[in-house]
Amino acid sequence: MKEFSGKIAVITGGGTGMGRELARQLVAQGCNVAMCSLSADAMAETMRLCELERPPQGLRVTTHVADVSIEDQLKRFRDELTEQQQTHKIHLLFNNAGISGGGSLFTNTREQWERTFNICWSGVYLGVRTFLPMLMKANEGHIVNTSSINGFWAAIGTTAPHTGYSSAKFAVKGFTEALINDLRLNAPHIKCSVVMPGMVGTSIVSNSRRVQTGSDRLSNDEIARLRKLGV
Ligand SMILES: NC(=O)c1ccc[n+]([C@@H]2O[C@H](COP(=O)([O-])OP(=O)(O)OC[C@H]3O[C@@H](n4cnc5c(N)ncnc54)[C@H](O)[C@@H]3O)[C@@H](O)[C@H]2O)c1
Repeated sequence: MKEFSGKIAVITGGGTGMGRELARQLVAQGCNVAMCSLSADAMAETMRLCELERPPQGLRVTTHVADVSIEDQLKRFRDELTEQQQTHKIHLLFNNAGISGGGSLFTNTREQWERTFNICWSGVYLGVRTFLPMLMKANEGHIVNTSSINGFWAAIGTTAPHTGYSSAKFAVKGFTEALINDLRLNAPHIKCSVVMPGMVGTSIVSNSRRVQTGSDRLSNDEIARLRKLGV
């Protein structure tokens, strides 16, 4: 897809980081954006930055609080955007929301492990399930699923376990690659891509900690590990 003007994009995790930057750049090119995240305040800041791009009159940017790992919340997001964007179709779906953490079967709780896995994997899978009918109604569509370098290599070094995040990101890569053929056979007007970022300087570590523990403060172990990685 080369032209974004007048199109409608859904972005999960639009409150900060790469999701925020996607929203800003799409709005700058005249694309309507509906984003979800866990924090209304973070999305308000994304909205403010989008407005600085001087979007054309009539362009819609809407924000929706929804947890991508919970299907009912994604369905509510879809219903809200249908009403607020006055549309039954979308052209772009960025399944971007994700958290790190949940690395160990030994030192993390099962709840922490599954929280990471469910956001990073189920968030992508449920995002596609929820929005596919709206993509089907557009004349062209594109799904962009965010995996990670940890979808190629299941490690962030030999000193830190990384099982929950890596398994989810491998699943996102495999799912998206298989989806290319499913779409080619059954909905050829929709394409899909997988993004495999290396390290990007966002606030993912503190955001993830807040989701996992309710606090942004890093433990001494985490600070030492991040220093070793050069973050
Ligand atoms: N930053 C990196 O180095 C890096 C590297 C590889 C992959 N990634 C991936 O890129 C994506 C974006 O990460 P980022 O670096 O911009 O991080 P970020 O923390 O800045 O952005 C992620 C956004 O997702 C939101 N989010 C988290 N859990 C959610 C949930 N359950 N429901 C809805 N929204 C939720 C957060 O509130 C946040 O706004 C993630 O999938 C991440 O795994 C990041």
